[in-house]
Amino acid sequence: MNVQVEDTPAATTPHRAQPAVNSRPVNISSVRHISPFRYPGGKTWLVPTIVAWLKNRSIRPSSLVDPFTGGGSIPLSLLREDLTDRIILGDIDPGVGAVWECILSSENSELRRQIRNFTVSRETVVSTLEEKPESRLGLAFQTLLRNRTSRGGILAPGSNLLMSGEKGRGVASRWYPVTLDNRLSLLDTLRPRIEFTQGDAFSLIEKHMNSPDAAFFIDPPYTAGEGKRAGRRLYKYNDIDHDKLFSTLKKAAGLVLMTYDDCPEVIELAGSSGFQFERVSMRNTHHVKSFELLISNFAEYSTNGQSTESTEAHQNANSEK
Ligand SMILES: C[S@@+](CC[C@H](N)C(=O)[O-])C[C@H]1O[C@@H](n2cnc3c(N)ncnc32)[C@H](O)[C@@H]1O
Repeated sequence: MNVQVEDTPAATTPHRAQPAVNSRPVNISSVRHISPFRYPGGKTWLVPTIVAWLKNRSIRPSSLVDPFTGGGSIPLSLLREDLTDRIILGDIDPGVGAVWECILSSENSELRRQIRNFTVSRETVVSTLEEKPESRLGLAFQTLLRNRTSRGGILAPGSNLLMSGEKGRGVASRWYPVTLDNRLSLLDTLRPRIEFTQGDAFSLIEKHMNSPDAAFFIDPPYTAGEGKRAGRRLYKYNDIDHDKLFSTLKKAAGLVLMTYDDCPEVIELAGSSGFQFERVSMRNTHHVKSFELLISNFAEYSTNGQSTESTEAHQNANSEK
């Protein structure tokens, strides 16, 4: 999770435009999860806010395009809530891409079989992660294993394996074969409504730019501005032209919803590109409260406390990540 130091909104934004603040934090543990990933910087915590936002405006795009998919928490949730007909996903990371491509292909069952049959121990994890995968399936399995046995789910070079983990279970702490099997099985049933392309976000954006029925959810690596630039540490691919991203998306025919770190550079970019924006607060797993920006081209955009309602609605429905 992207952790930011709590700050007063005014102190962090000495700019002409000041976003509204929704100060009640979203409880990160209150949301159901169907992605097989535990994704660093993932937006599971934002699901209730976005679901409520669309529902309250009776917005139902025929497709939702997420070109920085990662774990895909938002598009999968919108599909689950039937708030769109199909989701169009993309990510530049070949490992992440291999996972999605296998899940959405006839290799789904073989990937599940390998997950169920893997005997997890520090030795087996280390030796599997040292192998050079020779197939898409091999890369997919290795990526999922790395994601679920590394600290924070980080896939980028330099990530470390979990040490003691939860309840002293070490690398096995987050390796849930039955849960993963179930999630992959569920995703298999959703296959006709999910499309994935491994590649650069801009190609996918360009492809759907002119469709008024296509909404975009944009969650790029947070590398804009001079702040913490968490994206550099969390993702192998993190070099984004943020100016180009804003100037491209302001021409999109459909709804655009972006999430970004709360920094002056992004506020300036959003404002100068004519986007609406506001802060949403969240508590991370260490109970640190932080803010992120929700940026949209929808004129009446405001969450106005709906995230809290949504969070409550999802309480008790949460499964482990
Ligand atoms: C903040 S994460 C997305 C997290 C996701 N929203 C979730 O909830 O799990 C950003 C993702 O963008 C991907 N990425 C980085 N550069 C990219 C590019 N140029 N094109 C497409 N994807 C890119 C990274 O691999 C990473 O998975």
